[in-house]
Amino acid sequence: MIKNILTAIAISLLSTAALAAGGNVQLDHMKPDMSDKVSMQEGLRTYMDYCAACHSLGFARYNRVARDLEIPEDIMMSQIAFAQDAKFGDLMKFAMTEKDGKAWFGAAPPDLTMVTRVRGVDWVYSYMRGFYKDDSRPYGVNNTVFKDVGMPHVLIGLQGLCAVKPDHVDHNAVDPLTGDALHSDACSSYKQEGSLNAHEYDEVVYNLVNFLNYMAEPYQQERKILGWKVLAFLLVLFVFATLLQRELFKDLKH
Ligand code: HEC
Repeated sequence: MIKNILTAIAISLLSTAALAAGGNVQLDHMKPDMSDKVSMQEGLRTYMDYCAACHSLGFARYNRVARDLEIPEDIMMSQIAFAQDAKFGDLMKFAMTEKDGKAWFGAAPPDLTMVTRVRGVDWVYSYMRGFYKDDSRPYGVNNTVFKDVGMPHVLIGLQGLCAVKPDHVDHNAVDPLTGDALHSDACSSYKQEGSLNAHEYDEVVYNLVNFLNYMAEPYQQERKILGWKVLAFLLVLFVFATLLQRELFKDLKH
């Protein structure tokens, strides 16, 4: 019995160690903010412009996303949903078929509805900032967190192309002396300049990942609010229960 337990503990420790060893790349850090609707709207726009050609959001519907992000129906359907015959209640499936994806890229572009839950927000944030020049790859790029990735650097026009492996950068880092946000450029040398500077590019990627974080768990905000409501309810209940208990015990004493 004891032996079994010890074996189980040893196995779980070993597998944790193995996981930790696998993820030896340091990730850039970002903190999602689901109350920032403007950021998520910007993220959705970037997504539709640069990602939707390959990746669906097949577990979400236009109407739900429009409601949550406070986008009017006509704007959602005329400016954001570009599939000609898409209806407001449709699932956001717009990308190529898996077969085409495999044929064109070697790997089918996965659906991204849940990607921040599978990979974590820090990973996706780092991934979008982690492309760099590597001529041995079919698209001429490699990625710091996804080695030998089959996806081209689709935001190259915005970010430019980093000539060397970019460093780790913390999106929420502040100067310890002044408290000002720090925006150091993760890439020390560019092969090709983009239209944005490093700070502006980080902002675009932040909004994109903030949107994907919402996408993976649209109820996150409501769940948190519900949690507080339940606690408030329990508190009120506790007060009444205490009063009732006092009342009852008072009567018992007589
Ligand atoms: C030209 C098609 C194409 C476009 C456009 C594209 N991707 Fe990809 N993406 C791929 C392919 C192909 C893969 C699979 C790569 C692999 O497995 O090697 C991928 C993989 C990914 C992954 C990794 C998923 C995982 O968990 O393995 C993420 C995250 C991702 N893409 C995000 C994005 C985002 C965000 C955008 C828009 C800014 C975007 N992609 C635009 C083709 C594309």
